[in-house]
Order: sequence, then C-alpha cells, then structure tokens
Amino acid sequence: MPIEPYAVDQLISAKAIAARVEALAAEITEHFRGTDKLVVIGLLRGSFIFIADLVRELDLPVEVDFLEVSSYGNATESSREVRILKDLRGEIEGRDLLVVEDIIDTGRTLRHVLDILATRHPNRVEVCALLDKPSRREVDVKARWIGFEIPDKFVVGYGIDYAQRNRTLPHIGAVRFLK
Ligand code: IMP
Ligand code: MG
Repeated sequence: MPIEPYAVDQLISAKAIAARVEALAAEITEHFRGTDKLVVIGLLRGSFIFIADLVRELDLPVEVDFLEVSSYGNATESSREVRILKDLRGEIEGRDLLVVEDIIDTGRTLRHVLDILATRHPNRVEVCALLDKPSRREVDVKARWIGFEIPDKFVVGYGIDYAQRNRTLPHIGAVRFLK
C-alpha cells in the first residue's frame, strides 16, 4: 500500500535521549545491584537502538536476549492475540529480568509479553520503556521506568518505525501528514 507523503517534526533530541538513557541506567543499576546476572530482554524490533545504548550504561553483569511478538495491527477485538514470532534463546526461570520496550501505547503488547514471561517463572520482572503514551492506555500495565511521556502522536526514529521507515533517525520525531 502506498504511503501518503509526510514530514517528521523533531520531538525529542538525540542529546536529550542520551541524557535520559544515562539517568535511567543509573537507577536501573541501583535497583538490580547484587543481582547475579540480569537478563535484559529487548522487544524487537523497535527497542534495538534503545537497548544497545541502555546496556552500555549499566554497571551490572547482564545477558541480552530478544523477543519478537506479532502486533495485533488492525485485527478485530476477538483476534487480539499476540503471538511469539521469535522466542528468547535463554532460560529465564528464577532469573531477574528487565524487559525493554520502545513505546507503551494501549499496553496490550506489554501485557501479553508479561503474561508469557510469567508462565516461565522468573524471579523478578521489571519494565523500562523509552516512551509512554498514557492517554492511549486500554489495559492496566505499568513500567517501573519510563524515558519520556509523550502526547498521542505517531512517532518515529531511534529504532522506531513507520511502515519500516525512519528507524535510523538519531532523534525522535512526530509524523505529520502533508495532505
Ligand atoms: P500497544 O500494544 O498498543 O501498547 O503497542 C505497542 C507497540 O505499538 C509499540 O511497541 C510499537 O511497536 C507500536 N507503536 C505504538 N505507538 C507507536 C508510534 O507512535 N510509532 C511507532 N510504533 C508505535
Ligand atoms: Mg514494539
């Protein structure tokens, strides 16, 4: 399907993101101090740049793993099932986990991911999301750490895409359609 022309207006600068990532990493390091080996789980694909920057600022021994789930897209209510497209490689039973998400929008994806992880009996599970759109929430789910709260705008950049575009933008911008 062809995409209508759009512009991207900067919302959060690369510098502001870097400063926030550093601050989040300091809090996360403090929280998990003493954990044997934290498993940092990146939710593909939108979190790949965020997780890369975040783990390099953590002063903790970590393992990195990835999980990719299908988004429910425009599916009807009844088929709003989230399926695993790429599962974790490692075992997480008894482990401390940090789930890293790009954006919490309705909260449905994160809710399903947390339910899936819980069936595997980890020890502790915390969530760090780069962006949060609280006004869009449909299910009750919370992240212990949020990078930035943003308004109800469609955003791209820093790993986040619009139809697979704009992931490599260094900052975060809002999509504005031109007609
Ligand atoms: P949720 O299940 O509605 O919370 O949706 C979360 C997922 O939808 C995010 O992880 C993103 O992959 C995607 N998403 C939500 N808002 C945006 C956006 O503004 N830009 C790009 N992707 C988004
Ligand atoms: Mg996502």
